[in-house]
Amino acid sequence: MRIAVFAGDGIGPEVTEQAVRVLQALEINGLELVEGDVGGAAYRKHGHPLPAQTLEIARSADAILFGAVGDFSLDHLERALRPEQAVLGLRKELGLFANLRPATVFKGLEDLSTLRPEVAGKIDLLIVRELNGDVYFGEKGTRTLEDGRRQGWDMMSYAEDEVRRIAHAGFKAAQGRRGKLCSVDKANVLETSQLWRDVVIEVSAQYPDVQLTHMYVDNAAMQLVKNPGAFDVIVTGNLFGDILSDQASMCVGSIGLLASASLAETDGAQGAFGLYEPIHGSAPDIAGKGLANPMATILSAAMLLRHSCGMEAEAARIEAAVAAALADGVKGGDLGGSAGTKEIGDAVIARL
Ligand code: NAD
Ligand code: IPM
Ligand code: MN
Repeated sequence: MRIAVFAGDGIGPEVTEQAVRVLQALEINGLELVEGDVGGAAYRKHGHPLPAQTLEIARSADAILFGAVGDFSLDHLERALRPEQAVLGLRKELGLFANLRPATVFKGLEDLSTLRPEVAGKIDLLIVRELNGDVYFGEKGTRTLEDGRRQGWDMMSYAEDEVRRIAHAGFKAAQGRRGKLCSVDKANVLETSQLWRDVVIEVSAQYPDVQLTHMYVDNAAMQLVKNPGAFDVIVTGNLFGDILSDQASMCVGSIGLLASASLAETDGAQGAFGLYEPIHGSAPDIAGKGLANPMATILSAAMLLRHSCGMEAEAARIEAAVAAALADGVKGGDLGGSAGTKEIGDAVIARL
């Protein structure tokens, strides 16, 4: 197995280092790690956030472990050269359309959540976020109107095949869980969402064993904090999924805990190529201080072993070690604790 390690910017290298240490501690035979430059770091070195040689490494790998990209000092660049284009480019170039973002409260760790423990304790949900379309990848631009006002615009759209494949991913995920799928859209206002809803209903005919519901995104945001335990699998578009997953992270306890897998197929089959990353960003406010919580990246490495390497036992070992460290009070500043990045890495490794 060849794993590409793209650490990126800000806390990206700090959290990735700990996830790599965890992988190495498992002493898995034949696991080869290859590093590559992405984001602002790559721009400074090669003049592009996703250089050709990095894409080459990605294509030659069986999976990618990704840290984070983003550097405010490069936000003046034209959009194509901004650090974020690295992760957007990898998702698009590699056809990684199915983004799995699980949010589960570990037993006994309900008090990590900002919600009341009896509410938080029921959280066991999976957000299946579409990653290759939506307003992210539509035509966009700025222009000056005839009356001199400046205008910015981004085109939101989904083609039916794009909706169909992510719907299949959502239904299949629900089949492997509690059999409930909630499709989140804004069909009361947006044509893109009406098509989304129509196609999801069409696809549902193939999954009579899954209970499908629909919810508008504003209500979904509300229900996520009111009664998150009611959700099993949420399937939604790129933008809504981005927002709802940050919110779900706080329902669990911190954005420093949520991992993700981005796959190019609908069923998350073992041996699938994938990109694995925490859902958080480069956190410039705490970068370089050894304060970042690496658990989300460590849990992303667990997802990598599960989905791309077929190593369920090793994945579960990492997850149990993270849960045990948290249960023993090993908490970063994001969780109100004082453990630093390396200390958390050490604590997880000690509990593997
Ligand atoms: P962010 O996720 O980087 O940070 C939001 C807040 O959460 C900050 O206060 C940060 O300190 C905290 N935080 C995030 N991860 C943490 C961790 N592991 N441990 C402790 N605290 C953590 O989001 P932002 O501030 O909106 O964005 C910063 C930069 O990251 C931007 O350039 C943005 O575009 C980029 N970004 C990249 C990705 C990615 O690479 N996939 C994801 C989100 C944001
Ligand atoms: C995420 C991030 C990215 C997104 C940005 C950095 C492009 O917020 O992975 O959640 O919006 O998808
Ligand atoms: Mn995000």
